Amino acid sequence: MDILEAIKNRRSIRHYKADPVDDEAVNTVLEAAHWAPSWGNAQCWRFIVVHDPEIKGKVADTLMKVKVDNEWVENAAASALKQAPVLIVLCAEQGKAGFRPDGTPVTDKGDYWFMFDVALAMENLVLAAHSLGLGTVIVGGFDAKKVAQILEVPASSNVVTMTPLGFPDHKGQISPRKDLSEVVYKDKYGK
Ligand SMILES: Cc1cc2nc3c(=O)[nH]c(=O)nc-3n(C[C@H](O)[C@H](O)[C@H](O)COP(=O)(O)O)c2cc1C
Repeated sequence: MDILEAIKNRRSIRHYKADPVDDEAVNTVLEAAHWAPSWGNAQCWRFIVVHDPEIKGKVADTLMKVKVDNEWVENAAASALKQAPVLIVLCAEQGKAGFRPDGTPVTDKGDYWFMFDVALAMENLVLAAHSLGLGTVIVGGFDAKKVAQILEVPASSNVVTMTPLGFPDHKGQISPRKDLSEVVYKDKYGK
């Protein structure tokens, strides 16, 4: 699949078939994620692949409710996490992205750079999944401390994001983007 086609046609998928995803496909998306660029090639990302329905259920229960039209509703991805046969959780080792070998931060962003590196890996992962006909939805609204407990993530690592992985049970809704002219400036910010 052409890269631009994959970028434009990928949608967040929140309804999945129960059909299993084979290990080869899981490895393909993980390889794609792992080939993402990273700060100093530090590769601070760590991936936890969860198949166990009980563990998936526990993680899904940590998703935060969101406010829609003044009402608190379930995070739309919660049921997706339970339906899809595979859940991939992305963690980051602290103190690697954005740091010199002596442990001092290179920029004023300190350890925020791990979010950047993990995001690049996640984007590769979701595009690779899409190219294989698999669905994903990036999830950020969850209780990371609870997920760390469930998955026994050590204190030296942060749980950053996760996605279900499975065969889509719907096409996925198009979420329109702002006009490019609203977000692109010429020479100076806001111009
Ligand atoms: C950092 C991040 C966090 C997100 N968290 C959630 C989430 O908690 N629940 C959810 O249903 N979707 C979540 N999404 C998916 C977005 O809602 C979705 O990407 C956006 O609406 C655009 O739709 P599209 O992915 O179909 O293009 C998240 C996306 C990103 C990038």
